[in-house]
Amino acid sequence: MYKAEKVAVIGAGFMGSSIALLCAQNGIDTINIDVSSEQLDNAQAMVARTLARLVEKEKISAQDSEDITARLAYSTKIADIGNADVVIEAVSEKIELKKKIMRQIEQFASEDAVVLSNTSGLSITDIVKDAARPERVMCAHFFSPPTIMKLIEVIRGEKTDDDTYEKTLAFAAQIGKEPVDAPELPGFIVNRLLVPMINDAAFLVMQGADKQNVDTAMKLGANHKMGPLELGDFIGLDVILAIMQTLHKGLKDDKYRPCPLIEHMVEAGKLGRKAKQGFYTY
Ligand SMILES: NC(=O)c1ccc[n+]([C@@H]2O[C@H](COP(=O)([O-])OP(=O)(O)OC[C@H]3O[C@@H](n4cnc5c(N)ncnc54)[C@H](O)[C@@H]3O)[C@@H](O)[C@H]2O)c1
Repeated sequence: MYKAEKVAVIGAGFMGSSIALLCAQNGIDTINIDVSSEQLDNAQAMVARTLARLVEKEKISAQDSEDITARLAYSTKIADIGNADVVIEAVSEKIELKKKIMRQIEQFASEDAVVLSNTSGLSITDIVKDAARPERVMCAHFFSPPTIMKLIEVIRGEKTDDDTYEKTLAFAAQIGKEPVDAPELPGFIVNRLLVPMINDAAFLVMQGADKQNVDTAMKLGANHKMGPLELGDFIGLDVILAIMQTLHKGLKDDKYRPCPLIEHMVEAGKLGRKAKQGFYTY
């Protein structure tokens, strides 16, 4: 069975820092790279907090915490991806940036490294359009927070080869995840189904429904852990809006039109939990 021994994660934001921690927790030497040293400092602080909490709850020992920390390295230089077997890009969701990162990865990574993009909405085929080795690249869409959520949606690009695909499945298992194949279509599987539900919940509120009633009804009637509006606040309403725009544009179907209430809230900075104000106040 294929096993990655060294992983490089590019991007130390919300997702990248947590994916790096996940890899280190599964015994893999991991380097987390970002252009911003401030983001790298934040990532290290997040890791320290998370591990301290796990030790406190007796989920891991103090020695485990030290070992995990020792497996993690940080750098501002993409050249440091060096001999990584798997390179994961988790930089900001901008197509030109992702294309640039792909070129840099090809420049510095070993030729047979598996390259994974954590894009939530861009086409992997498009991201590697100008790449020299598109057969080594595919999409591995992690869910937030990656250390906890079991799923990785795996999406092959037009040119992804079988070896890359097989190694990606083995790598997903190595880090304790369950890969599910998804088509290269906007929103893949989960976002295509989940985000329009949140968008429709916002339409219900706009049309006069009480937000608390919408959430309570879905929790009690559909057995959801969180109501759709709470969930929208948790994910971030700017993220919800961006995904709806991608679905609307990509699938060319008006049933995916973003709810005007969400558009207004995003314009007003009411982005949900991270802004302390969304459908609810935090
Ligand atoms: N947030 C989520 O819930 C979620 C879930 C699944 C997938 N994603 C995807 O993961 C990716 C990252 O999202 P995020 O929420 O972590 O974003 P984020 O804004 O928290 O982090 C992005 C990071 O990329 C870094 N970056 C920008 N340019 C760079 C460069 N040239 N080289 C190295 N680093 C660079 C930034 O400094 C930042 O730290 C996006 O593609 C997003 O669509 C996000």
